[in-house]
Amino acid sequence: MAEARAHGFVYASKKRPGSDDADGGEDAMVVAKKQMISGPVAGVWEDPAAALAGARHEFGEHGGVNMSIEASATFTVMEPETMRRMFTGELGPDRDFFIYSRHFNPTVLNLGRQMAALEGTEAAYCTASGMSAISSVLMQLCSSGGHIVASQALYGGTHALLTHFLPRACNITTTFVDIRDHAEVAAAVVQGRTKVLYFESVSNPTLTVADTPELCRLAHDKGVTVVVDNTFAPMVLSPARLGADVVVHSISKFISGGADIIAGAVCGPAKLVNSMMDLHQGALMLLGPTMNAKVAFELSERIPHLALRMKEHCNRALTFATRLKKMGLKVVYPGLEDHPDHVLLKSMANKDYGYGGIMCVDMETEERANRLMHHLQNVTQFGFMAVSLGYYETLMSCSGSSTSSEMSEEEQTLAGISPGLVRMSVGYIGTLEQRWGQLEKAIARMGEFGLLKKN
Ligand SMILES: Cc1ncc(COP(=O)(O)O)c(C=O)c1O
Repeated sequence: MAEARAHGFVYASKKRPGSDDADGGEDAMVVAKKQMISGPVAGVWEDPAAALAGARHEFGEHGGVNMSIEASATFTVMEPETMRRMFTGELGPDRDFFIYSRHFNPTVLNLGRQMAALEGTEAAYCTASGMSAISSVLMQLCSSGGHIVASQALYGGTHALLTHFLPRACNITTTFVDIRDHAEVAAAVVQGRTKVLYFESVSNPTLTVADTPELCRLAHDKGVTVVVDNTFAPMVLSPARLGADVVVHSISKFISGGADIIAGAVCGPAKLVNSMMDLHQGALMLLGPTMNAKVAFELSERIPHLALRMKEHCNRALTFATRLKKMGLKVVYPGLEDHPDHVLLKSMANKDYGYGGIMCVDMETEERANRLMHHLQNVTQFGFMAVSLGYYETLMSCSGSSTSSEMSEEEQTLAGISPGLVRMSVGYIGTLEQRWGQLEKAIARMGEFGLLKKN
């Protein structure tokens, strides 16, 4: 029988031989498998890369260095009685019993284990998109009549979910607040009704940094669960280590890094993750935004180099932001010392990753923003005009007319989104000086056309 080796364990990778579907006791296989659900982060947690390196490495069925893909939608059992026991929840994935891949799948579970290590949470499970991770966890935590307090500076899709969809479809309402104003946040909490405080660790697109430890203290005092979207700052920030209960991700961005996959994750306590997979009440199980095992495998292969990629995204973003600022442009980047959240970010950030791979240049009007992006893409080849982020090439978009266009003009103003804000996800291919030359040349062209309004 093929064997799978795990750090410290050698255990059967295949279903139990003969009729050992029956309870086999706490053998090594069970103990090893239990780590899959409960996460690898027992003990001292230093850093996301260290936690990932310490997570269990799953080998392939034939001893391959990479795990095998469990491509099955459904799973067999040796005895009919086992099926009943799986459906009652007595036998589950912690003991290598799988039912159907909309429920748990071993390959998706492996990616979940990596996500739990990355974020330092007890458990995690992956979904078909970032939006499905966000909507599912909010629907799991809030029932009809429930209330959310959320930052007014959020990704446009999340803002629309909270403003339009959840009130209409689920009778869940949201009060939006300035997340930097802690008195306003506290005042918005309705005792007994508010279930969730929701914010982005670094906001899309304004790059406002949330004081996660302080906001968590405030929310927990009032019995409110804190959900943080860490899409903009994987590796850089670890919200769960700063007190957040749940961390959500759009894996489609930095974690994937290839701009070729849409995916998401919910990282949090095992109890929450398991409740989301419950056959009767689980938002992931019943709404069904399942991740395909082949996609999960692809992503599992990219997470090991996320730390290296993030460091270079951050290094280049800081270099370009610093130089653009020196040239007199209105640059928004929390790595710059004069950014209002710089000291806060520095106090929370994991060491040696930097301050994030996104920077913004405020051109003040949409017309100037569009001209700049035109020069950057079509004249100097610095990057691509496209939404999304975390790609190896630089991606740029004018947020007000693209990824934040779900928000009204008034909501955009409240969130601090200028109509000329160009969001840049700074890529890392080519040499830094080669790419700087392209950026500088485009800025010079703007100056020649009299389109550069300096600070
Ligand atoms: C901060 C943030 N959260 C969530 C999402 C939604 O993720 P997805 O596109 O994977 O559904 C996005 C997408 O742009 C985002 O920027």
